Amino acid sequence: MLSRLRILITGAKGLLGCELVQVLSPAHEVAAFGREELDISDPRQVEAALARYRPQWLVNAAAFTRVDACESDPELAFRVNAAGPEVLARAAARHGVRLLHISTDYVFPGDRPAPLPYRETDPVGPLSVYGHSKLAGEEAVRGVLGEEGLIVRTAWLYGLGGPNFLKTMLRLALADPGRTLRVVDDQHGSPTWARRLAEQLKELIEADARGLFHASAEGHCTWYELATTFFELLELPARLVPIPTRDYPTPARRPANSILDNRRLRELGLNVMRPWQEDLEEFVRRSGAALMKECGGGGQ
Ligand SMILES: NC(=O)c1ccc[n+]([C@@H]2O[C@H](COP(=O)([O-])OP(=O)(O)OC[C@H]3O[C@@H](n4cnc5c(N)ncnc54)[C@H](OP(=O)(O)O)[C@@H]3O)[C@@H](O)[C@H]2O)c1
Repeated sequence: MLSRLRILITGAKGLLGCELVQVLSPAHEVAAFGREELDISDPRQVEAALARYRPQWLVNAAAFTRVDACESDPELAFRVNAAGPEVLARAAARHGVRLLHISTDYVFPGDRPAPLPYRETDPVGPLSVYGHSKLAGEEAVRGVLGEEGLIVRTAWLYGLGGPNFLKTMLRLALADPGRTLRVVDDQHGSPTWARRLAEQLKELIEADARGLFHASAEGHCTWYELATTFFELLELPARLVPIPTRDYPTPARRPANSILDNRRLRELGLNVMRPWQEDLEEFVRRSGAALMKECGGGGQ
């Protein structure tokens, strides 16, 4: 029988962190820390938490994830996304604790033609400060822990817990039902339900996995296709128009193709990720009413 593990989660109040707490809690003993309780870039706070809770696993779901804001505050981006993981890795090494660190599809340049996906072994080349800072975080973890560290790259997260693309779309549609929403249709990725990713991470922890993995939903689409499917599932009429990236300029450049191949998960028989459409359907079925309420549509 699988033993009950003590797991400390950082960034526990974020989109993924909330799901991780729920998914890991019944089977394992979880200590959950939001930013106010534990700043991952502060070595003293990290040391104190590890000394006090003596976990077997440290799961880092903390990050500075506002991709455009990272462009104007690279110092903060590198402190949270690079120095923070290094602090965690050093503490994990000192205490003999396993570290699971989350990274991103935005470490890739996205210049290969879609739908050719990126594997774990493919060369990286971030386009943004966020991507560079997250890559530096991966390198810091590898630098300290080598292949003993567990790094999981994911992509295009959505869920109930925190701000994300789907909530933004829904808020805009509900605020002004007649409005036309222009949505980028030439960036390709795999929209990933944070709940499913949390289940995948549980699987990896329980398998005592090491090294680098890609874990995103199976299949791929564009932001426009994602928004269209989302509104169809919600049965909410919305006027959507596909536009190219150049018509929606943002401070940060984003990869045109950041589709990830969950190759290592499959090779090791550990892949629990599902097609993005199936997960989106389940998400809307479970959480559609709560989403409508949160985003301004009242109860259903
Ligand atoms: N969201 C996506 O689409 C996406 C895609 C690919 C990869 N990822 C990766 O997935 C992981 C989880 O992301 P997410 O979407 O759950 O992000 P999120 O919702 O922004 O959650 C991140 C959490 O980290 C906290 N945090 C920020 N600075 C911190 C610090 N110094 N110490 C401790 N906590 C801190 C944040 O608190 P505050 O909100 O109070 O600042 C927030 O609660 C991240 O590694 C991210 O890079 C996300």
